[in-house]
Amino acid sequence: MGVGFFICFLAVVMLLRCSASPQLNTDEFVVSDFFLKMRAEVSSPVSGSSYSVCSWKGVSCDERKEKVIALVASGLGLSGPIPENTIGKLSKLQTLDLSANNITGLSLDIWGLGSSLKSLNLSSNQINGSLPDNLADFGELESLDLSCNGFSGEIPTALGSLSRLKVLNFSGNGFEGSIPDSILGCKSLVSIDLSRNRLNGTVPGGLNDAFENLMFLDLSGNEINGTLPVLSGLNSITYLNLSGNLFQGSVLGVFQEPLQVIDLSNNQFQGHISQVNLSSSYTWSSLVYLDLSGNELNGEFFGDLGRARSLKHLNLAFNRFSHQNFPQLEQLSGLEYLNLSKTSLSGQIPTEFSKLVRLKTLDLSQNQIAGYIPDLSVVNLQVLDLSMNNLTGGIPGPLLNKLPNMIRFNFSYNYLKLCAARLSPETFNTAFVGSHNDCPIAVDPDVIREKGMKHRGLRLAVAVSLSVFFLIAGLVCLAFRFRKRTRSWAVKQLPSKEEPNVSGPFSFQTDSKTWVANVKSATSVPVVIFEKPLLNFTFADLLTATSHFDRGTFLAEGKFGPVYRGILPGGIHVAVKVLVHGSAVTDQEAARELERLGRIKHINLVPLTGYCLAGDRRIAIYDYMENGNLQNLLHDLPLGVQTTEDWSADTWEEDAGIVENITTEGMTTWRFRHKIALGAARALAFLHHGCYPEIVHRDVKANSIYLDSALEPRLSDFGLSRIVGASLEDEISRGSPGYAPPEFSESENVSATTRSDVYGFGIVLFELITGKKPLGDDYTDERETTLVSWARTLVRKNQGSRIIDPKIRETGLEKQMEEALRIAYLCTADLPSKRPSMQQIVGLLKDIEPISADH
Ligand SMILES: *[C@@H]1O[C@H](CO)[C@@H](O)[C@H](O)[C@H]1NC(C)=O
Ligand SMILES: *[C@@H]1O[C@H](CO)[C@@H](O)[C@H](O)[C@H]1NC(C)=O
Ligand SMILES: *[C@@H]1O[C@H](CO)[C@@H](O)[C@H](O)[C@H]1NC(C)=O
Ligand SMILES: *[C@@H]1O[C@H](CO)[C@@H](O)[C@H](O)[C@H]1NC(C)=O
Ligand SMILES: *[C@@H]1O[C@H](CO)[C@@H](O)[C@H](O)[C@H]1NC(C)=O
Ligand SMILES: *[C@@H]1O[C@H](CO)[C@@H](O)[C@H](O)[C@H]1NC(C)=O
Ligand SMILES: *[C@@H]1O[C@H](CO)[C@@H](O)[C@H](O)[C@H]1NC(C)=O
Ligand SMILES: *[C@@H]1O[C@H](CO)[C@@H](O)[C@H](O)[C@H]1NC(C)=O
Ligand SMILES: *[C@@H]1O[C@H](CO)[C@@H](O)[C@H](O)[C@H]1NC(C)=O
Ligand SMILES: *[C@@H]1O[C@H](CO)[C@@H](O)[C@H](O)[C@H]1NC(C)=O
Ligand SMILES: *[C@@H]1O[C@H](CO)[C@@H](O)[C@H](O)[C@H]1NC(C)=O
Repeated sequence: MGVGFFICFLAVVMLLRCSASPQLNTDEFVVSDFFLKMRAEVSSPVSGSSYSVCSWKGVSCDERKEKVIALVASGLGLSGPIPENTIGKLSKLQTLDLSANNITGLSLDIWGLGSSLKSLNLSSNQINGSLPDNLADFGELESLDLSCNGFSGEIPTALGSLSRLKVLNFSGNGFEGSIPDSILGCKSLVSIDLSRNRLNGTVPGGLNDAFENLMFLDLSGNEINGTLPVLSGLNSITYLNLSGNLFQGSVLGVFQEPLQVIDLSNNQFQGHISQVNLSSSYTWSSLVYLDLSGNELNGEFFGDLGRARSLKHLNLAFNRFSHQNFPQLEQLSGLEYLNLSKTSLSGQIPTEFSKLVRLKTLDLSQNQIAGYIPDLSVVNLQVLDLSMNNLTGGIPGPLLNKLPNMIRFNFSYNYLKLCAARLSPETFNTAFVGSHNDCPIAVDPDVIREKGMKHRGLRLAVAVSLSVFFLIAGLVCLAFRFRKRTRSWAVKQLPSKEEPNVSGPFSFQTDSKTWVANVKSATSVPVVIFEKPLLNFTFADLLTATSHFDRGTFLAEGKFGPVYRGILPGGIHVAVKVLVHGSAVTDQEAARELERLGRIKHINLVPLTGYCLAGDRRIAIYDYMENGNLQNLLHDLPLGVQTTEDWSADTWEEDAGIVENITTEGMTTWRFRHKIALGAARALAFLHHGCYPEIVHRDVKANSIYLDSALEPRLSDFGLSRIVGASLEDEISRGSPGYAPPEFSESENVSATTRSDVYGFGIVLFELITGKKPLGDDYTDERETTLVSWARTLVRKNQGSRIIDPKIRETGLEKQMEEALRIAYLCTADLPSKRPSMQQIVGLLKDIEPISADH
């Protein structure tokens, strides 16, 4: 609209200039000159043929159609300073609205408009600098809106000359210093908005005598101090906003009958508001909006608050009230917003609360409200925050899923019973922080078995294997990102949840053996979760998360002990590895080692999430890898035939089917297999070359490589060897069958090196290209019993193309695959010194990276 007007108007201007130029110094001339100078870059076609400035949109003239009396040019993109000798020359101008443009300065002659101007609106421009005393010339002004500009300096005392001023808006500028006492001279003021400036000092005394007609006073967002201005004589005032200042003292004086809106939030008001009911003459009948939040009020709430029957918005949050029982508010039937967060409430939420049918927002967070949540199924409810209380029991079903307008709820940090499986993980993670999952279903073995049947044949396996660990003696990894961390047991933030069975020792059965956690009280044994140091998890939480290490959550028997899965409070989905073998290291050493492992971070490594020292059982907690490991994906293991360290996720993830499809599909492309190879190579290169001293993995193999939820390959299993017993260490160093390099069988004393890792990686690469297992597969050549000898023989004979996995359906990438075979060939050289470094391998693999655009 504005632009249209402007274009028309320009057309007009151009015609005027080309043909019948307006006479100099007529209103028509100065207005057109003004627009041309403020929008010089615009040109436009000509249309129409008869014009008078008085007919332009936004322009009004006097009766004789000679003089412009109103110019409204809001939002036309006018930019730059107002030029001299333009609109400053409109001698009869009464209304000037140049709001919402890009005006950067005023002309001097603008002050000449003073004799006629009644309304000046320069709101939302970019005018800066101080406001001159020339303001005094505007004796006729009734409305002055300079809001949202860059005015600075003090408000000129000349303001006091504007005795006819009704509307004053200086909001959103940089005015500083104190409000001049002279403002009391503006006796006609109805509305004062000085909000969002940098005003300080106190409010001039005597407001109540000066402003008989004042209805609206907004001083919010300044640095004004002192006590509440005296309001008793302001018989018309309906809106008072002093929010965000430095006011002190009592708030009781503010309760004046006409006020409908009172916002005194975020000041330093003190004192009791409870001791007595407000003066008997105050009826509460007008009050619609009351915000006293963020002050230092103490005592209890108003005794007679229940009388405020018009109240729609009540916020008393964040004060220093004394402990008090939940107030009776159900009479306030018009309430739409109620915020009693952090007001020391205890007791229960009365069931009558559901009578507040207009409620849209209810915030009762950070109190000590106990008992059950009543059925608050108020259709209008949009925001519900009950976090950080002592609430118990279940959550009324409708609250979670039946309320049509609900936007956000928060039940975090309570003692509520809930079943995470019925919530989306996102909801659980954000709205139930610090909550315990009392879900019986997720860990019910029958359910898992049942679902497993449905998914028979799927090979989605998820595991973090325990098979091999290696020694990191005195390891300091330079590439670690050290994070500040508080030991969680040092922070007593949240009480631990009562468990029915918290005293030990605890003993648990796996398929093959029984293990014991010799702890006295489950709640006294901390669980460290690195990323969430403030969450006070204990062994009791691990018990809950794994349903007391129930067989329903049992995933696999690793070399060192059983692996379980669980969801910790807050929805942290983990694989829990119990290192059941004894260990020579002290608890302190073990903790230090685990903390250190927790700091090894790389996009292609499975992160250690945390740990727990439960008696002499060390428990390592890992991120749960949703998409299985390479061995399962590649070799299509049926569900029932898990290798020892693997477990299947398809009984666990609701959307397992989808994930499964992606990965199964993915496995038929070289592109995806190459990504896995490159990711694993990067992880190893990081361990070998990015850390000092270098970290040797010691057991690179297909089932050490997992795929996370984003299908990013991640290498697992490094660094636990220090923590487990020395007796196992040798066994670990020997590597896994099919992946161990030849030097290991030559001598007892050969220890693992980065080059033995390279060998293992070479085998994995052969697996990726050929789709064959390292041992015992059908190698189409009866003499060959291992993948490595078969593949190497054919590569040597230059017949690599014959051994490429026929399941790879892409065409056109044969060259790259053959090249990859040659890389695997290099990696599996008999002599360790002939094998390339992981860094070189990363380079070689990157050279043959399939270009994703060609598919
Ligand atoms: C002011 O100018 C800026 C850039 O110069 C532009 O982005 C903005 O839209 C203009 N505002 C108005 C109201 O014309
Ligand atoms: C000034 O103009 C703005 C929009 O351009 C408008 O919102 C505001 O109400 C006007 N001010 C007065 C006092 O009329
Ligand atoms: C006003 O803004 C202009 C340009 O942005 C700047 O050069 C000038 O210093 C500013 N003046 C004041 C008083 O801030
Ligand atoms: C003052 O101006 C600001 C910004 O233009 C606006 O938001 C506010 O509503 C105005 N105040 C009054 C009382 O109209
Ligand atoms: C008030 O603001 C002015 C200008 O910013 C400053 O000079 C003065 O020290 C401030 N006064 C107080 C009491 O903070
Ligand atoms: C009071 O002013 C503050 C800051 O300017 C604003 O956020 C708040 O919404 C205002 N209160 C009312 C009731 O308008
Ligand atoms: C307001 O602040 C100024 C400067 O900080 C101080 O001198 C004055 O006493 C304060 N006034 C009140 C009423 O607290
Ligand atoms: C305060 O007001 C409430 C409601 O009007 C009344 O029930 C109560 O008795 C009053 N308390 C005192 C101390 O006057
Ligand atoms: C309740 O009031 C507090 C303090 O003003 C504020 O931080 C919080 O966001 C409010 N809650 C809601 C739901 O508006
Ligand atoms: C809330 O629960 C905590 C921890 O159980 C307890 O210390 C506190 O006394 C409880 N508060 C109330 C009011 O019940
Ligand atoms: C719920 O409250 C907790 C505790 O204050 C907070 O950490 C979490 O971010 C909140 N969640 C939402 C969705 O507001």
